[in-house]
Amino acid sequence: MAIDLKGRSFLTLKDFTAEEIEYLIDLAMELKEKKKKGIFEKRMENKNVALIFEKPSTRTRCSFTVGAIDEGAHPEYLGKDDIQLGHKETIEDTARVLGRMFDGIEFRGFSQQTVEKLAQYSGVPVWNGLTDEDHPTQVLADFMTIKEKLGKLRGIRFVYAGDGRNNMSNALMIGCSKMGLHYVVAAPKGLHPEKQLLELCKVYAEESGGSITVTDDVKEAVKNADVIYTDVWVSMGEEAKTKERIDLLQPYQVNEQLMTATGKEDTIFMHCLPAVRGYEVTNEVLEGKQSVVFDEAENRMHTIKAVMVATIGK
Ligand code: CP
Ligand code: NVA
Repeated sequence: MAIDLKGRSFLTLKDFTAEEIEYLIDLAMELKEKKKKGIFEKRMENKNVALIFEKPSTRTRCSFTVGAIDEGAHPEYLGKDDIQLGHKETIEDTARVLGRMFDGIEFRGFSQQTVEKLAQYSGVPVWNGLTDEDHPTQVLADFMTIKEKLGKLRGIRFVYAGDGRNNMSNALMIGCSKMGLHYVVAAPKGLHPEKQLLELCKVYAEESGGSITVTDDVKEAVKNADVIYTDVWVSMGEEAKTKERIDLLQPYQVNEQLMTATGKEDTIFMHCLPAVRGYEVTNEVLEGKQSVVFDEAENRMHTIKAVMVATIGK
């Protein structure tokens, strides 16, 4: 059956089947290849997209901007001080107004409920550019990078070391369990994934042939890893917890010793970026030959473009 995502929002990978996720990754690969050859099909000509950012961003913002322009669309950036979202105007009202003017809306901010409300009230596809709970577009780029580097997703041993209950770990756990990877979270007990999400992902893993393991033993976790992934110890909006996080997460730092503990030489190191060198990852590992972080960053653009093309493009 042909896959058609026209008119759909992209709020979380929970809403997508493995086939649909694969389709988006393959489309991104096709768009990447075409861009490298200088082929632009302008699949979003005469479209306008609103980019709402309550939190800062380099990769996500630039990916939506460049991706839209490459395909002939006009992107409009709406920063936190530019609009009244949720302050002087309700989210529902802003959503309905933007929905009358734009063909799609990206939202990055705090609450997952906000992105859901935007989708419910705008009547146009809404794309989640990161919330406190989820970061689904990042996972598409990560999976595209794994496919490029390791040739497959199914059966990959994917170890995430760090804050096991942040948006990145949640999104990766959803994605890995849908796509048949073996997702291992190595995190201190206080930062393990939330139970309800974990249970849901275990159901996905059962269907896909993947698995989920949660542990606080990082040395054991990384054995045989195909991928080691980490993210910042303090996510945007949690700055007050900085000291506590550093104390808790120091043993989970990805350094040369941890990379060696995999017992493999071809394990790849991944990070969504921005990275705080010397905290969650050492400079050596980030700059080392196993690191694929800048391919990942580039792939944000191709995958985000694919999401827009698939949902509002020709
Ligand atoms: N990885 C990521 O989302 O980066 P930005 O915060 O720069 O968008
Ligand atoms: N967990 C990080 C991801 C940044 C892309 C944050 O929310 O700040």
